[in-house]
Amino acid sequence: MTEDAKLFTIDDYEEAAKRVLPKMAYDYFRSGADEERTLKANRKAFRNYEIWYRVLVDVTERDTSTSVLGIPLRAPIIVAPTAYQKLAHPEGEVAAALGAAEAGTIFTLSTLATSTIEEVAAASAGPKWFQLYVHKDRGLTKSLLDRAEAAGYVGIVLTVDAPMLGRRLRDERNAFALPEGLSMVNLAEMADDVSRAEAGSALSSYAASRHDPSLSWSDIDWIRSNSTLPLLVKGIVRADDAGRASDAGVDGVVISNHGGRQVDGAPATIDALPAAVDAVGGRCDVLMDGGVRWGSDVFKAIGLGAKAVLVGRPVVWGLAIDGAAGVSAVLDLLREELANVMALAGCPNLAAIDRDVVRRTG
Ligand code: FNR
Ligand code: LAC
Repeated sequence: MTEDAKLFTIDDYEEAAKRVLPKMAYDYFRSGADEERTLKANRKAFRNYEIWYRVLVDVTERDTSTSVLGIPLRAPIIVAPTAYQKLAHPEGEVAAALGAAEAGTIFTLSTLATSTIEEVAAASAGPKWFQLYVHKDRGLTKSLLDRAEAAGYVGIVLTVDAPMLGRRLRDERNAFALPEGLSMVNLAEMADDVSRAEAGSALSSYAASRHDPSLSWSDIDWIRSNSTLPLLVKGIVRADDAGRASDAGVDGVVISNHGGRQVDGAPATIDALPAAVDAVGGRCDVLMDGGVRWGSDVFKAIGLGAKAVLVGRPVVWGLAIDGAAGVSAVLDLLREELANVMALAGCPNLAAIDRDVVRRTG
């Protein structure tokens, strides 16, 4: 029996990953900012929504398929960008991308990946987005956009909630740094910076010195003029910001608080989703991430108007345990759970999951 065969829930995967990962790596992946209120709230808030299931609907077929920005997906579950995947598994981002492709979904490569844009593209023919951190060095930033486009990525995910990083106290206490042999290989001469911290988190120092904190709404046009790829903006919780992003003509908005790693005290994303969906008013796709650990969480997000969800940590746990196979197993598990809830709730397809089926408690 493989390790995966004994794992029945995403939390089982986390427990198993915790056993195999070095403490510094596990702490980095699991942490939120400060007191981790938002990290916990992301999960807890899903419990505030109930599924008002329909009965006597033919659910012989449960169709979880959809498409996002024209890309067909087996289920509305996409791989979120997470940095440093070789800390989880020696094959890192290449294995994660292969696992995502195997599961029929999009893989999003972080700017802070430990594998190159090109090697991930060469290894996996599946659909890939590139997540962009805008650096003060705009020449470098533009070269990342060019490389992603040349390598066949099909979208840019601009992260807007990280002008610098939130305080992850475990990383500070562990003096988090990349081990010998791992680096941010897409960032050329800066690649080694995260292995050179003297105190605190080397990643936090990196972001404070290299990320461009002047990034503003006018830069959306700068990105658009430097890439022909579809553009998603990730890291929004406010309805007015979601509306403004769609006014700016972006192709997708990702309601996200960075998995509780930035503003501690930010709202849970599932609570932020409905008003954002209303503000966007169908002008572009709205996605969400944060705390999705069950198929029923995916169901609730779809009911509240998300086109799809992204998952961050669950993918890292699958990767840590079993590389590409672990990643596809985690994504398949969420898809199968979703299909099961759809059957039980009388929703044979995603279009049937509406705001009437998913209601806030109380
Ligand atoms: C992230 N996230 C993130 N986001 C981003 O835009 N670029 C990045 O490099 C990273 N790196 C990163 C590392 C780790 C370890 C985590 C946990 C998260 C945020 C990520 O894309 C996503 O928003 C959250 O992970 C979603 O929450 P869940 O699914 O982890 O609860
Ligand atoms: C993080 C950054 C890298 O959350 O996005 O660790």
